[in-house]
Amino acid sequence: MQALTGFRDFFPDACARRNGIFRSWRRTAERHGFVEYDGPPLESLELFTRKSGPEIVKQLYNFVDKGEREVAFRAEMTPTFVRMVGARHRDFRKPIKWFAIPQLLRYERPQKGRLREHFQFNADLVGSGTPGEDAEVIALLVALLRDLGLGPRDFRVRLSSRAVWHAALDAIGVGAAAHGGVFEVVDKMERVKPEESEARLAGLGLGAEQTAKVRAVSEARDLEGAASAAGGLGEAGEWLRQVIGSLEALGAGDCVAVDLGIVRGLAYYTGVVFEAFALDAAGGYDGRALAGGGRYDDLLKNLAGVALPAVGFGMGDVVLGQLLEEKGLDVTGGAGKRVFVAWPGEEFRVSGLGVVRALREAGFVAEYPLRAQGLGKQLEAAEHAGAACAVIVGEEYARAEVDVKWLAERRQERVAVGRLVEALG
Ligand code: HAM
Repeated sequence: MQALTGFRDFFPDACARRNGIFRSWRRTAERHGFVEYDGPPLESLELFTRKSGPEIVKQLYNFVDKGEREVAFRAEMTPTFVRMVGARHRDFRKPIKWFAIPQLLRYERPQKGRLREHFQFNADLVGSGTPGEDAEVIALLVALLRDLGLGPRDFRVRLSSRAVWHAALDAIGVGAAAHGGVFEVVDKMERVKPEESEARLAGLGLGAEQTAKVRAVSEARDLEGAASAAGGLGEAGEWLRQVIGSLEALGAGDCVAVDLGIVRGLAYYTGVVFEAFALDAAGGYDGRALAGGGRYDDLLKNLAGVALPAVGFGMGDVVLGQLLEEKGLDVTGGAGKRVFVAWPGEEFRVSGLGVVRALREAGFVAEYPLRAQGLGKQLEAAEHAGAACAVIVGEEYARAEVDVKWLAERRQERVAVGRLVEALG
């Protein structure tokens, strides 16, 4: 039997890669002052249907449980985060800077970079609603990718703003009621034929000239271009300028580019929105997004009844894992140096186990033969295990000495037991 379509088995090598990514995510988030939280994998269906928007709701794994409750597996972390902050926000000093690494389930068509299950690093900040908060969150996104060995040649965070888009649509004469619908069209514009987007915009009541202007805004790749396509950006433009200023000062500027082609598919974003993509050899955007997020100032009010502004993002492990593999970046490190403790006869097993214990306590990955075996077989097992050396515990142990055999170099040396950790170091 195989795993279900769109679900992964994590054999040890895949698990080592996954854990390497998780270690890096945790280390970087903590360095930026974010603390870890978690929530339940199953929530009431209503939590998702109320605010996430049609895209995610279609993709829910939902069912009626044995107590007749309508429930769903989490397809994103934001609703749970909002529910938890809403319930106990008074207990935490602001800004709240939390991160989580949930496994999420989405019933979507499996394809390259998209599965029905993925792990998603989430970072969210609840504060007072400033451009500096947006920059802090985006700087973390950049730092996460950098810590994994990626740089400005490998990815770009495309930075946009729904507030800028609202201002632009107002200027273009698109009524507020149609803005959400326009965002859904713009979100897919790069992936569908122009006629399809035009038809959908016409369906929302936009004329040909308005449609052309919407496309021009979506193609703006800097603030000036956006301002001229939109006919001025006002305060929303100034906000974005401040976000960029802080990102430059935080050293993330070279990985971020203004790009009004981004509006994001989720319904709840209100201000700055952004999405990170891998770059291909020509500097173009390659495939699916590595991460995405934005400011959502009304969701806490709408879901939990507390008016607190928030900003955050999610970064999945699937597209990221593919990119790291393509770039030959190995993130599996972290475990201690591997050694194998061997002995020429079973009478040395007890002494050998004492050496194993001491090495493990000193941080080495130490293994040993679990059944009686000739020394030659044990040294073979040591090589198979990928050990750098074998520590041979024999007659000399009575004089507090062991032999260390360096496997690659085929060199052997006698070492005092008291100096073993240092000699292996
Ligand atoms: P999202 O854009 O739906 O945002 O997902 C964020 C990232 O998760 C994507 O860029 C992608 O890397 C990964 N991802 C999403 N769906 C899949 C899938 N089916 N298979 C593999 N990877 C996937 C959100 O979920 C927002 N809740 C993020 C957020 C947090 N916004 C504010 N705070």
